[in-house]
Amino acid sequence: MLVARSNPIELEKDRTQEVCFSSDGSILSAPVESFLQAVRSQLREQVLAFEPEIASFAEYALLNQGKQLRPTLVGCAGEADQGFEPGLVKVAVIIEMIHLATLVHDDIMDQAILRRNRPTLCEHSGNEVSVLLGDCLFSRALELASEFPTTDVCRLVSQATRNVCSGEILQTLRYKKRILNQEDYLRTIRLKTAELFALSCELGGSQIGLSSRHCDALRNFGFSLGTAYQIYDDCLDIFGDESEVGKSLGTDLQTGKCTLPILLLQEAMAPQEKETLLSKLFVWDESQRDWLMGLFARHQTLEACIRVIEQHLYDAERALELLKGDGHGLSLEPLLKFLSSQATRLGH
Ligand code: IPE
Ligand code: IPE
Ligand code: MG
Ligand code: MG
Repeated sequence: MLVARSNPIELEKDRTQEVCFSSDGSILSAPVESFLQAVRSQLREQVLAFEPEIASFAEYALLNQGKQLRPTLVGCAGEADQGFEPGLVKVAVIIEMIHLATLVHDDIMDQAILRRNRPTLCEHSGNEVSVLLGDCLFSRALELASEFPTTDVCRLVSQATRNVCSGEILQTLRYKKRILNQEDYLRTIRLKTAELFALSCELGGSQIGLSSRHCDALRNFGFSLGTAYQIYDDCLDIFGDESEVGKSLGTDLQTGKCTLPILLLQEAMAPQEKETLLSKLFVWDESQRDWLMGLFARHQTLEACIRVIEQHLYDAERALELLKGDGHGLSLEPLLKFLSSQATRLGH
């Protein structure tokens, strides 16, 4: 237990209220909406922590709202629909700042130009500023994490941050070495994405004093959900619509990353065909898109990816059962349905 809940801000909320998302994936209403408002307001305050000359860049990165999935996980795991304490908000702010820092760096590496419906920070202010601003966001988040009464939050946030960055490095190395196997892919996405989802759930639970058994189950839930989410995002990169999603898509193919759709496609192909596929992928140009989409359709690759997403969502559901039996994690369940329906929409 990290911080006990005393005099929480009481909210009257229907705990069965569904998480609801707009077509671009942003949250319209959630059982933890008041909590998310508090997170947004504290993120806004974080701009003041930066030097006046840097604040405008920090503002650019911090204040353009995304789907707030990780703060939502912190809030739902931390039962913020029942009231919440400042520590829970702070955990969500820290994790969202880490996430934003990784996005700022990721966009440089992926040469992405669009993020959250506007130019990426690297497109807007250049790579030099973006590298260092990403570092500033990481370090500010860790500074906030060090303000908790024990070192637990800071240690866990630091470990997860290292894992996220390690995942991004592994991904870079594996596509340079042209490594193509599912085991390696899974390891990478677990590090770069699932770890932060797991941390969001685990810290949400520990902040309200849930037992280590419950916090472990929350962590497992977040880990499986995060794995499913990155697979979904990798499908989105190939099968999604950029104007709907609001970020650059197609960057995985452009930068030679072999994500699950490619891995499953090459597994389904005859050796000769596979050689042609790989040689074309490693010198990718957009004129090959229709040919590739034809192969995906012929081998029903998207359907196969959705089945893998569903398997991870099933694992998340199992972890949740352990919590639900004791009356915890109730508002997390709709997130599984949300991701499942978003994945199914991809094919239409
Ligand atoms: C994008 O995360 C990076 C991935 C892990 C796929 P989100 O899809 O949560 O991005 P925002 O926060 O809504 O912009
Ligand atoms: C990045 O994965 C995940 C991070 C840890 C930053 P992606 O490169 O697929 O994320 P998007 O698609 O740019 O949001
Ligand atoms: Mg990217
Ligand atoms: Mg992506």
